[in-house]
Amino acid sequence: MPRCVARSLGFVLALCLALPALVPAAPPSGTAYLVSPATEKKIDALLARMTLEEKVGQLNQYSNPLDLTGPAAAAGNQQAAYDQIRTGMVGSMLNVNGAAATRKAQELALSGSRLKIPMIFGYDVIHGYKTIFPIPLAEAASFDPAAAELSARVAATEAAAAGQHWTFAPMVDVSRDARWGRIMEGSGEDVYLGSVMAAARVRGFQGRDLAAVDTIAACVKHYAGYGFGEAGRDYNTADMSEHTLRNVVLPPFKAAADAGAATFMNSFNEIGGIPSTGNAHLQRDILKGEWAFQGFVVSDWGSIGEMIPHGFSADLKQAAQQALAAGSDMDMESRAYVGHLATLVKEKKVDVRLVDDAVRRILRVKFALGLFDDPFRYSDPAREKAATLTPANLAAARDVARKSIVLLKNEGGLLPIDKASVKKIAVIGPLADDKDSPIGNWRGQGVAGSAVSLLEGVKAAAGSQAQVVHAEGAKLIVGPRNFMAPPVYNTTDRSGFAAAVEAARGADVVLLALGEDAFQSGEGRSQADIGLKGLQGELFDAVVTANPRVVLVLSSGRPLTIEKQAAAVPAVLATWQLGSEAGNAIADVLFGASNPSGRLPVAFPRAVGQLPFTYAHKNTGRPGPEPGVTWSRYTDLPNDPLYPFGYGLSYTTFSYSEPRLSTAELAAGGEVKVTTTVTNTGARPGVEVAQLYVRDMVGSVTRPVKELKGFQKVELAPGQSREVSFTLTAADLAFYTARGKWEAEPGAFKVFVGGNSRDTREAGFSLK
Ligand code: BGC
Repeated sequence: MPRCVARSLGFVLALCLALPALVPAAPPSGTAYLVSPATEKKIDALLARMTLEEKVGQLNQYSNPLDLTGPAAAAGNQQAAYDQIRTGMVGSMLNVNGAAATRKAQELALSGSRLKIPMIFGYDVIHGYKTIFPIPLAEAASFDPAAAELSARVAATEAAAAGQHWTFAPMVDVSRDARWGRIMEGSGEDVYLGSVMAAARVRGFQGRDLAAVDTIAACVKHYAGYGFGEAGRDYNTADMSEHTLRNVVLPPFKAAADAGAATFMNSFNEIGGIPSTGNAHLQRDILKGEWAFQGFVVSDWGSIGEMIPHGFSADLKQAAQQALAAGSDMDMESRAYVGHLATLVKEKKVDVRLVDDAVRRILRVKFALGLFDDPFRYSDPAREKAATLTPANLAAARDVARKSIVLLKNEGGLLPIDKASVKKIAVIGPLADDKDSPIGNWRGQGVAGSAVSLLEGVKAAAGSQAQVVHAEGAKLIVGPRNFMAPPVYNTTDRSGFAAAVEAARGADVVLLALGEDAFQSGEGRSQADIGLKGLQGELFDAVVTANPRVVLVLSSGRPLTIEKQAAAVPAVLATWQLGSEAGNAIADVLFGASNPSGRLPVAFPRAVGQLPFTYAHKNTGRPGPEPGVTWSRYTDLPNDPLYPFGYGLSYTTFSYSEPRLSTAELAAGGEVKVTTTVTNTGARPGVEVAQLYVRDMVGSVTRPVKELKGFQKVELAPGQSREVSFTLTAADLAFYTARGKWEAEPGAFKVFVGGNSRDTREAGFSLK
């Protein structure tokens, strides 16, 4: 990892001082920390005492089937799970929520089992537990790993106090296809940004010591290739070369493993005909072999059983055999291991040493969490109350939220809103007073309807200085909104249009809040069309016709195709889904208390037909442009996106000097320093994200036309200049070559510096 990722400290540091233990020290390097001679000895002793059935029990994970808050009694088909927990046949549970319920479940597991091995509780703590932070895609827009680390730290503190030991995060799937609903859970299209954010989140969740009562184990997911499902459809086949796997998909996983992530989750998709759950190349050769990963791999929900419909396993028994052989250690909800592994061992179809290794890996993490010292140490109702939704946590959420906002267009100085001249503000649209969508999908224990809406934030910021009027215009969703229900859009009810037009007419500025409902993105929420759904397009036209002084305040879990709308208004702000403090954070930016500094972690395409898209594409043999059609192009659209990766405006402007290089020839063990002078050429203080890209001109395999290799956030006063330097070594230029090695190849390189992936200035050097 280049040493050029500067953390924007400032406010975060001040905040951390108010939040004890929010800044972990340097994380352990890799997962070697899980393996100490003392722990291995204890595990050996335990393994020696365990029956085969008890071993299999450790590999078995259930989602909470019980009412653990009520009397510890179970009825009907719950009885079986209840009995299994009591007899040590369930090593882990997910979705047991709260200090009281986790305590009760743990008591159950310890009450009747022979060896009293504590269960490990896992939960999807994706962007906050109760205090909800921006969705991960939004956080990636901050280009601020310290912000992502802080967000994970706060989430861990709250979740741990509620009895969780383990989060199924971070999701580090690179995705270049906004049709995929789960693009909201990752860091977008870029390998380098994704790697930096992956490591930051692992550090945030795990802190410096997994045994601390405010840290939880991370689970890096979905290993691997889940973001590359064909046509952007969830769970779909991903067919990719080893070249793409190694150079694009795996680096963020490797970065997370290097940061010490204790666990991995495999993925639903197949690659090259092999479902990840049954993929020994991924799990055994690469993860546990090449990367020497010492933690454990959990299957994704039911993914062992899903190898049957994949057409890879004839039945659950064969699936169990294949999954364990391939390196899947824990079975989430397939009941394949608990149903068949013991028989498979007895039939000599599975080597018991594979079972022992999987148990060992799980026990390592349980020991590291301190569960053998005190199985109840995380389940603390008093701490749960004291640590949750604190003012400091909410302040952190607001800070990370405003850093995640990306200003996409601002013509004629409509923003920031000038309180001296703007006396009437209209806040219009289905998302204007939506207190729930900012919570996003994968919302942990975030309370429905608990976010600060845009309207509330604007009213609070405007105070008595401006009149704020509101009109919904049209509903976006009719029908149920929840994790399981597919969105049903309002396509007929225009009864609110007249009031919206009326509100717009008299306003000095219109904030038009459009985009996506929380449950439009997330798992199972792929879309073939990523434009404004329902009646939003019509509402947009009606409002803009009534008053063109419109700021399009776009909220979404993915990039949207808004070319037409963006052309029709002077200002566009991408606000994603920003969590508990969304409205306040957006108002901070709208009124200029915070100068926007977010940059796109994924391009906004012009049309869905451009997908999948990345700036880091290959040149092809016919890059063009040239006359005629026979070059790699569309005939009905430009190749480039509406807004590229790394793009985002500020209320000020920045310029870059030509990059200056410390040497034109980089020696194998040496370094080249790339320096550019960044100047604030506008009238306000602002934060620029200076970006460094590289192109390897000729390789044993072709290389992308540009690849991000570093970024730094620089705060500059009006007129101020600063030299920004990035240091590159051969390691930063390495990739998976035709020789099947991670190495740098000598030859010519270009370097580019600039404020986004498109507008750059360049220089060149060669690697000896
Ligand atoms: C998702 C995982 C998640 C798991 C447990 C699965 O459907 O793919 O990301 O961690 O459920 O909730």
